[in-house]
Amino acid sequence: MAVKIGLLGLGTVGTGTAQILLDPTGRNPLLEEITISKVGVRSPDKPRQVELSEGVITTDLESIVNDPEIAIVVELLGGLEPARSLILQAIANKKHVVTANKAVIARYGDEIYEAANEAGVYVLLEAAVGGGIPIIKPLKQSLGANRIVSIIGIINGTTNYILTKMTSDGADFGEVLAEAQQLGYAEADPTADVDGLDAADKIAILASLGFAGRVKREDIYCEGIREISATDITYAEQLGFVIKLLAIAQGTEGENSQQLELRVHPTLVPKNHPLASINGVYNAVLVEGKPLGQVMFFGPGAGAGPTASAVVSDIMNIVAILKSSGTNNNLDPLLSCVHQHFCQI
Ligand code: HSE
Repeated sequence: MAVKIGLLGLGTVGTGTAQILLDPTGRNPLLEEITISKVGVRSPDKPRQVELSEGVITTDLESIVNDPEIAIVVELLGGLEPARSLILQAIANKKHVVTANKAVIARYGDEIYEAANEAGVYVLLEAAVGGGIPIIKPLKQSLGANRIVSIIGIINGTTNYILTKMTSDGADFGEVLAEAQQLGYAEADPTADVDGLDAADKIAILASLGFAGRVKREDIYCEGIREISATDITYAEQLGFVIKLLAIAQGTEGENSQQLELRVHPTLVPKNHPLASINGVYNAVLVEGKPLGQVMFFGPGAGAGPTASAVVSDIMNIVAILKSSGTNNNLDPLLSCVHQHFCQI
């Protein structure tokens, strides 16, 4: 029997997600086992780039999280509310949740994961950081044997796009920001991108996963790219650097404890550094672990297709488990390790 999912939001990422789910040809056959049962939107009359069956779209978002037939709620609304309340309500109703919402997870991750642990459901968030780059699951699972030393990333596509265009074409900040908005990279309120807030949400999530300790979002030093001028870029260039908005989580070992330094700010990156060549909407995350050494994750960091790729993969992970176990209360210990992290604190 098909697994029914409910989408909350049909914006850039919601549309990309629905498009993949409705076109399974040539993709994993598991996609054919997934049905979009309901899609919650705020403006039902808005023209859409995806064809959904009649009656699927609703403005009653709560009806989705309360629908007994829906097994997985996919939250793609963005923003704090009503996203947080709807996620918690879905969990209370024993539904698995897939979300791309970095703002909610960075602030309410422990509340959400505690609720998910109690309910015995998954909350997966691969799309919340790095768009289409697989980083959440690899960081927690594939690098799980390491002591993480640092996580340094270009994790906001909009600002990297702006800085790249300002560097390569001498483009004007405002014009390039408008372009990034049109391309579907920027947040609904692009202040979150430009002022570094989005990158701070994302590094809070990565640091929570990579380091064994609670990261408080408000503890992250945060400075955006508004003040970067064409002159700064030219001088940096002459000195052998490029300017990148970096998000940095760096562990420092004291005598008896480990401390974590967290910051987001424009940084002079030497031209021969691996992060210097990450251009446009691309993101990259450089992780250093012991005994591994350095590993870099790289790929398209924003936009409909890449982000939807991560969302649908999370949905498929859950569907695969539901299909193989036929039950909700038999959580895969590796997938659910994200929960354990948030709850151990
Ligand atoms: N506004 C975000 C960015 C979207 O530009 O990176 C992806 O999280």
